[in-house]
Amino acid sequence: MRIGTIELPNHLFVAPMAGVTDRPFRQLCKRLGAGYAVSEMITSRKDLWHTLKTSRRANHDGEVAPIAVQIAGTEPVMMAEAAAYNIDRGAQIIDINMGCPAKKVCNQWAGSALMQDEPLAAAIIEAVVAACLPHGVPVTLKMRTGWCQAERNALRLARIAENAGVAMVTVHGRTREQGYKGLAEYDTVAAVKAALHIPVVANGDIDSPQKARAVLQATGCDALMVGRAAQGRPWIFREIAHYLEHGELLAPPATRDVQGWLLEHLQDHYSLYGEHSGVRSARKHIGWAVHALPGGTAFRAAMNTLDDAAAQLRAVSTFFDVLAESHRLLPTPLPQALAAGVEAANDDVAELRA
Ligand SMILES: Cc1cc2nc3c(=O)[nH]c(=O)nc-3n(C[C@H](O)[C@H](O)[C@H](O)COP(=O)(O)O)c2cc1C
Repeated sequence: MRIGTIELPNHLFVAPMAGVTDRPFRQLCKRLGAGYAVSEMITSRKDLWHTLKTSRRANHDGEVAPIAVQIAGTEPVMMAEAAAYNIDRGAQIIDINMGCPAKKVCNQWAGSALMQDEPLAAAIIEAVVAACLPHGVPVTLKMRTGWCQAERNALRLARIAENAGVAMVTVHGRTREQGYKGLAEYDTVAAVKAALHIPVVANGDIDSPQKARAVLQATGCDALMVGRAAQGRPWIFREIAHYLEHGELLAPPATRDVQGWLLEHLQDHYSLYGEHSGVRSARKHIGWAVHALPGGTAFRAAMNTLDDAAAQLRAVSTFFDVLAESHRLLPTPLPQALAAGVEAANDDVAELRA
């Protein structure tokens, strides 16, 4: 699997998720089997680049290559400048966001809203490709199937992107109008794959190894991208890889291993955000990791009241110590995992709108 000239270790990708796929989480997913991870979106608004939020997102210290940065905006020139800015900060791949349902930039809707204005979308793609070309940096595009049910123009846009020099296209099998509701459909994704010569990535509702294989078969895509199902379960990538290779399910991870991964993730998280905000923003990761486990709901409520890193680490450690006494292997999560992911997505999207 290649993006331009960049070779990837496998074809399982973690989806960009604002507020989730920060550097520590991307590192964790890569460690647990993801071959590729894209940053949370970075705005093309220069006046926000100095903010703590954007400068954290643009910081790639110690990140495992390839470093892929997603940019969001509505103006071709600003998007080209954002690409150059992020290349200066270490980006080796630039991804254009035409997939996110909720991001307002310069009083205009960016992300998937761009899909309803094909000339503007084309101008953005061309400007970003032109800015990246001299640096040898490939450009990728992430989009939905279209603006709304009646306007599913992913295929037309994908062709525009390929002709403009884009190196890979990812399609989330929902329209912008759907948000995260309903089920992802893969016919449009398959049509895009069949029409293009560059790699195409399927995304949307892949939440198990079996579903991953079914989506690969249904679309013929070159790679799969997993978002919400990796929240609290980043080892899903190695579970999918094992199933695709051997046709059988991998045993659940040892409870002690999960404990170790989560504690290390928390330490990385605090070192990026500092203790005060780190403890607060870590709560969602801990919540996702425990909510479907025995005693997880009560633990989450209690853990959310803790305000310092040492207490949070101790609580997580004790929760898994107790669980490991009765379960050497992590108990199979209840099927509510995806539903909880959808709920979390809606919360986070609401937060993005604010
Ligand atoms: C909390 C959250 C934040 C997201 N942020 C972004 C983003 O910044 N850029 C983007 O292209 N897509 C974003 N997405 C969409 C995901 O990349 C992905 O396309 C979508 O969740 C469908 O995949 P899934 O069903 O595997 O979750 C976000 C999704 C969620 C749940």
